[in-house]
Amino acid sequence: MTKRLQRALAGEAVWPPPVWLMRQAGRYLPEYREVRARAGDFISLCTAPALAAEVTLQPLRRYEMDAAILFSDILMLPWALGQGLRFAEGEGPRLPPIRDAAGVDALDPSRLASAIAPILETVRLVRAGVGDATLIGFAGSPFTVACYMVEGQGTKEFAHVRRMAYGQPRLFGQLMDIVTAATIEYLAAQIVAGAEVVMLFDSWAGVLSPHLFHTHVTLPTKRIVDALRTRFPDTKIIGFPRGAGTLLAGYAAETGVSAVAIDTGVDPAFAISAVPGNVALQGNLDPMALVAGGDALARETNGILDAMRGRPYVFNLGHGIVPETPPEHVAALMRHIRSH
Ligand code: CP3
Repeated sequence: MTKRLQRALAGEAVWPPPVWLMRQAGRYLPEYREVRARAGDFISLCTAPALAAEVTLQPLRRYEMDAAILFSDILMLPWALGQGLRFAEGEGPRLPPIRDAAGVDALDPSRLASAIAPILETVRLVRAGVGDATLIGFAGSPFTVACYMVEGQGTKEFAHVRRMAYGQPRLFGQLMDIVTAATIEYLAAQIVAGAEVVMLFDSWAGVLSPHLFHTHVTLPTKRIVDALRTRFPDTKIIGFPRGAGTLLAGYAAETGVSAVAIDTGVDPAFAISAVPGNVALQGNLDPMALVAGGDALARETNGILDAMRGRPYVFNLGHGIVPETPPEHVAALMRHIRSH
């Protein structure tokens, strides 16, 4: 029997729609905070297979999610390539920024296979325990990962990376090639280990001009999709080009992804008209509506469900759950969707 999420990603209008939530494992859950405290720092948690598998499955014990998403982080890829990474408590990720050829040359793809071994072990453990739900593996899209590699942290403008992309196209192209090849190897290894679906997070796709969006978002995504399709023709791939706006249509048509995840700002009616009907849509409840709960949550959820009904569709948020989210609001959301 094909699982509900894979049916929707294969183009079937499953109703009520399959549901999972970006960042469904995380600090809003007391049981996550408990395991996180036991692990020590965040990277230790991501590289401790038994603990990472436990937090991956925590949301499925509480709620009837249709999918578990591997507990890891998009920045484990630069970490595996040898770029230093730490998560400063309360401040987010910090990496030694790559600003020149020496920084790009220092990356070491030969480390990848051994560095990701504990993450692949997490995939195997989760797959053994996931039951009727789907296990989603993931990576950042090369552009978003490169944003953190060049800036060294999250920023408002991503000014250094954009300047490098426009002003040093050869150097930035080299960095993108290294990250794209490593992403293919990393996702292929996740699929071999048991990931049933994979997702590419391009959180900062929206900071580029249409021209560079095509070069650094659409084309690398297509390269990853083509490489994975050749080896794993049945594995569905979800793309999340956050902030793509009107560029969504070209992205959906050219990359070959099985589904497009849309962010909070996208009108479902626009996404339906811009994305071919055989490509599933996923999204896009505002995470803040989930924090607010009550009538606002019901109204926003209904608006999305009414628009998406009859189309291959997966319910999700427009961006990740925030730590302030009351866990009982997630339970209310799940009941609401199931009874729509
Ligand atoms: O439940 C899940 O969704 C699976 C795990 C997951 C995490 N990060 C765990 C995490 C996934 C899929 C991600 C993706 C990710 N990581 C993205 C893309 C999606 C998005 O949100 O835009 C990005 C940009 C990152 C980079 C990152 N990781 C940042 C900027 C931060 C700090 C901000 C924050 O929320 O703390 C992280 C840390 C992080 N990744 C946490 C979790 C649960 C919090 C770490 C902690 O427990 O202290």
